[in-house]
Amino acid sequence: MSDVVYPNHLGIIMDGNGRWAKEKGLNRSVGHKAGADNLVNLLDYIYNNTSIKVVSLYAFSTENFKREKNEVDYLMKLFVTLFNTKLESIKKNNVKVVFSGRRENLPKAVLDSMDKTTDDTKDNTKGILNICLNYGGDYEIVDMTKKIARQVLNGSLNIEDITKEVVNKNFYQDLPPLDFVIRTSGEKRISNFMIYQSSYAEYDFPDTYFPDFDSKCLEESLDNYRKRDRRFGNAK
Ligand code: FPP
Repeated sequence: MSDVVYPNHLGIIMDGNGRWAKEKGLNRSVGHKAGADNLVNLLDYIYNNTSIKVVSLYAFSTENFKREKNEVDYLMKLFVTLFNTKLESIKKNNVKVVFSGRRENLPKAVLDSMDKTTDDTKDNTKGILNICLNYGGDYEIVDMTKKIARQVLNGSLNIEDITKEVVNKNFYQDLPPLDFVIRTSGEKRISNFMIYQSSYAEYDFPDTYFPDFDSKCLEESLDNYRKRDRRFGNAK
């Protein structure tokens, strides 16, 4: 594994659960359950077989609250089950779980399971799993701006000292930039996912729906990443 190039920070936009279910004549919820089961396997693969250190997942956007109530309620219950039980292997894998997003509008049971997961894994050192839940990249920039403005107003920060590092430290999580973002299901959009942190990321848009996006599909995407010539604005 050591001589194979892997992104340090991988983002996954887990799209297509609903269409996966619809094509099988099943309820959308079944697709989300299949997506969650796939996710657990995929994360086990990533943290045990690759040198990817940070994974950011787009689990639920601020806009996803506009979906039908029964779908939102189902997803919230699924998150609680995932965090309380299914992510057990992640915790045992020495991975630190952190969350990005706004706490407002999230049910107490979800917040409690998030807090417990954060606390249980805070000293883990092998990797980081950043779960974007009730997340919007635009809101993250708004919330960062408010935090910095407060520090300037209370005198703890000088305007001249605002740097890229200060901006990063005031995001929901202080993470390295995204190297590679995969959006499954064939949609070619970023949909407000970590828009600042992905400024130099490479992208891959496989057609596979997320519940079918297994470790083999991931390796195919990673092969695409390895073919990219990352120049970060430098001349060829
Ligand atoms: C997008 O598919 C998927 C979601 C909005 C939810 C993703 C959630 C999971 C995979 C559950 C596990 C997640 C975590 C991190 C705990 P869609 O419903 O938009 O599908 P469609 O585009 O086919 O309608």
